[in-house]
Amino acid sequence: MGTPRQLSIEQLHVSSHPLVREKLTRLRDETTPPKIFRELVAEIATLLLYEATADLPTDEREVKTPLAPYKGARLKDKVGLIPVLRAGIGMVEAALELMPEAQVWHIGLFRDERTLRPIEYYNKLPSSATVQVCLVLDPMLATGGSATATIDVLKKWGAKRIKYVGIIAAPEGVRALVSAQHDVPIHVAALDERLNEKGYIVPGLGDAGDRQFGTG
Ligand code: PRP
Ligand code: URA
Repeated sequence: MGTPRQLSIEQLHVSSHPLVREKLTRLRDETTPPKIFRELVAEIATLLLYEATADLPTDEREVKTPLAPYKGARLKDKVGLIPVLRAGIGMVEAALELMPEAQVWHIGLFRDERTLRPIEYYNKLPSSATVQVCLVLDPMLATGGSATATIDVLKKWGAKRIKYVGIIAAPEGVRALVSAQHDVPIHVAALDERLNEKGYIVPGLGDAGDRQFGTG
């Protein structure tokens, strides 16, 4: 159970970093209180975002050090962060620390407990895309319905390059997302065993929103 399981899908990137695995273990622990849970979500998000942004294009940027001119780099594209409310909120600050100039566009979805289908209740996107790269932030990829719906909204908005950054995925969610969105890389800290009859990821961590915000 401690090591990432295999699902041979090119779009799926499961971090094997020891720091990610150690923090994820503490995140899963049912005795971890909301304050520490929130800190761990942010720390894991930082590490996953570092991996997920490794191929972002750069432009040349020249600066002067105290000793000499230096030809360096700056991000070429505008980046949009799309946290899915509520649970995605916990990943935003970490992303903004890494990319302070990123724009943040919120999308609100919750799962209908009976059908497990996502219901959209909030969308703060302007009428057309203002960024070249979108990073969807949502810790849990369970049935994949919420991620698929979010990415559909972004594509209609005009987003061309989209990446999904989560924390735990179920195989069912990965398969659903890959079949609906074949061009969206998925970055997670772990691929778990399965969904239970209520659509929760097992072993998972429970309800990511409730655990962050103390509403369980
Ligand atoms: C959770 C999670 C995802 C969704 C994943 O949100 O943050 O958005 O479930 O499930 P899916 O892959 O089956 O769609 P939830 O509906 O619990 O809302 P919350 O964040 O407001 O608690
Ligand atoms: N949403 C969560 O917060 N946890 C799960 O296990 C599945 C969906």
